[in-house]
Amino acid sequence: MAKNILVTGGAGYIGSHTVLQLLTGGYRTVVVDNLENSSAVALQRVKELAGQFGNNLSFHQVDLRDKAALKTIFTETKFDAVIHFAGLKAVGESVQKPLLYFNNNLIGTITLLEVMADHGCKNLVFSSSATVYGWPKEVPCTEEFPLSAANPYGRTKLFIEEICRDIHCSDSEWKIILLRYFNPVGAHPSGQIGEDPRGIPNNLMPFVQQVAVGRRPALTVFGNDYSTKDGTGVRDYIHVVDLADGHIAALCKLSDSKIGCEVYNLGTGKGTSVLEMVAAFEEASGKKIPLVMAGRRPGDAEIVYASTEKAEHELKWKAKYGIEEMCRDQWNWASKNPYGYGSPETTK
Ligand code: NAD
Ligand code: UD1
Repeated sequence: MAKNILVTGGAGYIGSHTVLQLLTGGYRTVVVDNLENSSAVALQRVKELAGQFGNNLSFHQVDLRDKAALKTIFTETKFDAVIHFAGLKAVGESVQKPLLYFNNNLIGTITLLEVMADHGCKNLVFSSSATVYGWPKEVPCTEEFPLSAANPYGRTKLFIEEICRDIHCSDSEWKIILLRYFNPVGAHPSGQIGEDPRGIPNNLMPFVQQVAVGRRPALTVFGNDYSTKDGTGVRDYIHVVDLADGHIAALCKLSDSKIGCEVYNLGTGKGTSVLEMVAAFEEASGKKIPLVMAGRRPGDAEIVYASTEKAEHELKWKAKYGIEEMCRDQWNWASKNPYGYGSPETTK
């Protein structure tokens, strides 16, 4: 029988791509999202893209902290596992409004875990982040590296990881996979779903994309004096469809009776500089991206990329796409949807 998966934050960027892979992989999927940072249009498009499997998707516009509503959803469906994406993710905002981040991300997660435990669903995949490696002293980052948090957003990831380790210690029926994502970029090759940040994008590729479609005049490059190949910051960019597939691999791993609370990096293992990424995007789009060189962004690390060995061995998962495909699909999405899921009037 098809497995039932609850996806929190399933209307968001990574969530919507994962929901599509789940549906086409034969899973029945229930999404819970308060649409705080996403649009219901994303899920309509996922349903269409999933074709015959689209009917296996249902959606509840619910905030995770609404325990009564969450209980009703768990009473209606017996879930085999939960993939938990829901959370706020803007680093700068988290520094300005730490309580908002602790309230949303921590209370949302604790409420979810309580309701899961009450309903006997103890299989979880959680969206952690490479941000928990702080400023790594060396690369590639392995899962054993020391952990730290540079801001309240990162601290919520660190706390949630620790909470998961503690609940597994207290009750070995819990099976939990913590996925530490590196830098998700790109979009589904159809160009129908992609990243649609509200306001001014914090991350590199959404900003580049908005410059390419004429919504912003130039990209500000944060620092060109790092000890890297061209002086700009180096990151491990991963195609969002590869990342989504990593979640399917994690679900398969949860069926393995031996797993307790495990952590895996999801990256490509390759480092790419800001200027290399811009050049790849210019090549894919045929658009020139004007650059303004500026100082380093406070809090930024110099070089971050993943060790991918553990995920390759234990999840039998490996990223397939390179930066050419990431930029091709990012541009396909951007050119078809220059204002994301909105319109020039609704999008600033
Ligand atoms: P996103 O903002 O597009 O998706 C998150 C979704 O969660 C949104 O649809 C939002 O409306 C929903 N949400 C937030 N708080 C909620 C609440 N209290 N109740 C119900 N729904 C709520 O972000 P994303 O890029 O898809 O990221 C998904 C997860 O992956 C997040 O936890 C994020 O921290 C983590 N992550 C993202 C990145 C990245 O670069 N995108 C990197 C590492 C980790
Ligand atoms: C950021 C977050 C991190 C989060 C990650 C993925 C900070 C300090 N860190 O990391 O917590 O896990 O996103 O969501 O915000 N860049 C520019 N110009 C821009 C934007 C970025 O030059 O307008 C550069 C950055 O300096 C960096 C690279 O591009 O070298 C990638 O930046 P970004 O996409 O924000 O990702 P991270 O820095 O890895």
